[in-house]
Amino acid sequence: MRILIAPHAGFCFGVRRAIEMARRAAADGDLVYSLGPLIHNRQAVEELRRQGVVPVEGPDDVPDGARVMIRTHGAGPDVYEALEARGLQPLDATCPFVKRAHDAARRFHQEGYQVLVLGDREHPESQGIVQQAAGAATIVSEPEEVEGLAPRAAIVCQTTQRRENLQALVAAVLPRVQELRVANTICDATTQRQEASAALAAQVDLVVVVGGYHSANTRRLAEICGAGGVPTHHVEVPEELEPGWFRDARVVGITAGASTPDDLLRAVAERAAEIGGPETEIAWP
Ligand code: F3S
Repeated sequence: MRILIAPHAGFCFGVRRAIEMARRAAADGDLVYSLGPLIHNRQAVEELRRQGVVPVEGPDDVPDGARVMIRTHGAGPDVYEALEARGLQPLDATCPFVKRAHDAARRFHQEGYQVLVLGDREHPESQGIVQQAAGAATIVSEPEEVEGLAPRAAIVCQTTQRRENLQALVAAVLPRVQELRVANTICDATTQRQEASAALAAQVDLVVVVGGYHSANTRRLAEICGAGGVPTHHVEVPEELEPGWFRDARVVGITAGASTPDDLLRAVAERAAEIGGPETEIAWP
């Protein structure tokens, strides 16, 4: 059996940077608090907790004077103000690509545009972008939701949006306004991972997608890989691999979501290789 690991599988630049920042900060022995789990992966969050990085719900749950991490998703000015009011020290792990969306939303709002944020209403990243536009932006997830536009409108995207969604929103808004500004703040890491995983799925007999069940981007990866008809299994840990899945597979593809640690991806690949037997090779990208 051959095992092919998808290029761009696992941590993206922003998540890797946030985890390293958290580990470095906690290395001095004092706890570091994160506003929500740093990543959507239960095993990685537990490992971080052992290293002194503790997720909390909000600034009120943090002891006085402590250090508090803002996640890659970023936050609105209200959160920074709440930290300052409590005398807490912010450690800002907002991904630079999310910051680009923040800057665009703030600038468009200051220049008098009606700001539309293409994103998921429940997602903290979209909510943070809205707050950067002084709370005056509107989140839209589908072009059909757009209504009551001002003559001057601007679009900013949640970084995980798909390009076709942005194009559809631009097509829906443009005929209804006098002026439209667009900041394409989509992050390529997601597209690259998805395209590489889809290409891998097309050349293998079985795909294993590694990542948290709560990670939206991992679930989406499993959908994309399975869409071409290849049997696809989503697992969180190596123990979930079932030998029966591999029975007729000569080539197995493994990919992982943006929040999946490298060691978990490696452990799943090694367990798959064990199931495949002594002749099995793992090809890393
Ligand atoms: Fe940043 Fe893109 Fe990752 S926005 S957190 S590098 S998916």
